[in-house]
Amino acid sequence: MQKPIIYSGMQATGNLHIGNWLGAARNWAKLSSDYNCLFCVVDLHSLTVRQDPKVLRQSARNVLAWYIALGLDPAKNILYFQSHVAAHAELAWILNCYSYMGELGRMTQFKEKSAKSEENINAGLFTYPVLQAADILLYRTNLVPVGDDQRQHLELTRDVAQRFNQVYGDIFTVPEAYIPPVGARIMALQNPEKKMSKSDDNQANCIFLSDEPGVIIKKFKRAVTDSDNQIRHAPDKPGISNLLTIYSCVTGRTMDEGVGDFSQSGYGDFKVKVGEAVLEALIPYRAEFERLITDTAYLDGVIADGADKAQAMATSTLIKVKEAVGLPICIKEGVSYERS
Ligand code: TRP
Repeated sequence: MQKPIIYSGMQATGNLHIGNWLGAARNWAKLSSDYNCLFCVVDLHSLTVRQDPKVLRQSARNVLAWYIALGLDPAKNILYFQSHVAAHAELAWILNCYSYMGELGRMTQFKEKSAKSEENINAGLFTYPVLQAADILLYRTNLVPVGDDQRQHLELTRDVAQRFNQVYGDIFTVPEAYIPPVGARIMALQNPEKKMSKSDDNQANCIFLSDEPGVIIKKFKRAVTDSDNQIRHAPDKPGISNLLTIYSCVTGRTMDEGVGDFSQSGYGDFKVKVGEAVLEALIPYRAEFERLITDTAYLDGVIADGADKAQAMATSTLIKVKEAVGLPICIKEGVSYERS
C-alpha cells in the first residue's frame, strides 16, 4: 500500500533558529519511515518581501543544507526548491481563479504582514496562501505538519480543494493537519507569549543555529523571566517554561527531571546552563552543516535530484487540473488523454 504523503516547507529567507529545529525539522526527520515526505524551501514565497538577490540565493541554499544537517535524509525525503518546479506557479495561477478576495482578505497573516509593510502591500502578499495551497495540492498531500500560525492557510487550502473538486470531480486530495505525537513550541526569548520567528525584528528573540557560541549564551542570559525566582513549568511562567522546554528538548530530560536539575539554581545560573546545553546539542549539527555547505557538488546533486522527483509528481497533478478546467492539451507533455 502507498504510504500517506506528508508535505511541508520553510521560507528561504533568514537563518534557521532553534524553533525551526526543535519545533519542526526534528519531528519531520522521524516521519520518513511511515510516510512519503516532501520538504520544500519555499523561495517563491520569499519574494513577497524585497530581498537582496545574493543574500536570498545563499540563504535558500543554507535552508536546504540545514534540512539535511538536521536529519532529513535526501535518500528518504524529497528536498527541493519551490522555484525549481514550475508547476507551483502554474497551479497557483489556476487556483487564484478559484479563490475569493474576501477569504484572502480575512487571512490573519496577510493582515499582519500588510500592517507591517505598508510601503509594499503587493499582490503576492495577498495571494501568498494560494501559492501555498498549490504547493500542498500538487503532491496529493494527505498531511501537513504546520504550526498554529499556518492553520488558517491550511483551512483555505482545504476549502479551495473542495470547491474545485465539487466542480470537476475528484482531482485534489483534501489535506489535513498533522499533529506530531510530541511537539515542542519554542517561544521568543524576549516575549515568550509569541512564537520564535525568523522574521522577528528583534534578533534577541531568536537563537539562530549558526549564532556564535558567545552570542547564544548572551541571548539566553538576557531571556525574559519573571520576578519570583522559582524554576517550574507553569502557564503563569511563560519565560521560565519556554527555557525548560528548550532544555528538555536538547537534553532529552523530562520536564520533571529538568526542574529537578535546577532546584538549587537561581535564574542567572539556570539561563546560562540552558544556553550551554543548547550549544552542546548543536555541535554535531553545526559540523554537518559546515561540511554540507562546502561540498558544492554533493549539494548540487541533491538539489537536482529533488527537483526531478518533485517535478514528476507535480506534473501529473497539473496535467489533470489543466485537463479538468479545459485548457488545450499539449502533446509535448507526452500524455494521452481520454477525450470527453
Ligand atoms: N507559509 C509557510 C510558513 O510561513 C511556509 C509554507 C509555504 C508551507 N508553503 C507551504 C508550509 C506548504 C507547509 C506547506 O511557515
